[in-house]
Amino acid sequence: MSEKNIPKHVAIIMDGNGRWAQARGKKRTSGHKVGVERAREVIEAAGNLGVESLTLFAFSSENWNRPKEEVSYLMELFIVALNREVKTLNKHGVKLKFLGDTGAFNSKLQESIKKAEALTENNRNVRLNIAANYGGQWDITQAVNNILRESPGIQQIDELMLEKNLVTHDLPPLDLLIRTGGETRISNFLIWQAAYAELYFCDTLWPDFDSNQLKKAIDAYQGRQRRFGKTGEQVSQEEK
Ligand code: IPE
Ligand code: IPE
Ligand code: MG
Repeated sequence: MSEKNIPKHVAIIMDGNGRWAQARGKKRTSGHKVGVERAREVIEAAGNLGVESLTLFAFSSENWNRPKEEVSYLMELFIVALNREVKTLNKHGVKLKFLGDTGAFNSKLQESIKKAEALTENNRNVRLNIAANYGGQWDITQAVNNILRESPGIQQIDELMLEKNLVTHDLPPLDLLIRTGGETRISNFLIWQAAYAELYFCDTLWPDFDSNQLKKAIDAYQGRQRRFGKTGEQVSQEEK
């Protein structure tokens, strides 16, 4: 991995907690607990490497369909982890933002989210975005609804308008999308934003993903040629 050409915006689908725990004869929830520890390590590593914006998929709009006990465990885990980590994140100049329909969470979690966002609002070092109750289809729909609300009677929208109304509007374009846990799908994550992101899938289950694994993913990213529709020759020429 080179210190140059670090992706500005990395997003991670942190998958495999349940299988990691089950393989050890433990309950799925214990995998989520270890998963939080790995998130902490990866957040720190990304900051040290110079990633400007890190977006972690913590809970999808479809994850409500899980058993009630698992959903409640996750909600409690989010509250505890957030309250515990927010001071350290703030000390490191991290600006925290939640992406998703957080209004559906219980009031305790909503309160923790509001406080954490307010405390870190003016930080400028790194952006940490937690996608919670997020769905890419929800994101695009809420963007369209924003536009309709702000410009009633509007007849046509364009891509730039839509992009400006996505929850990621103030973040750099997505460069690298990582999915751990062996599945090769997007699961309704940043579907618009991933249009030209480099995709990286690995079999490592999230509780085993560490800073070295992150470096491996960035190394793979650095080996890609991002052509954005052009020919390889054109891009090589421009890089000279
Ligand atoms: C991802 O791990 C974490 C969340 C969705 C909250 P999973 O819980 O999906 O783990 P697997 O895929 O069942 O192993
Ligand atoms: C995606 O993982 C959501 C998160 C990692 C938070 P899932 O485990 O929910 O995805 P599917 O259901 O296998 O597609
Ligand atoms: Mg999963």
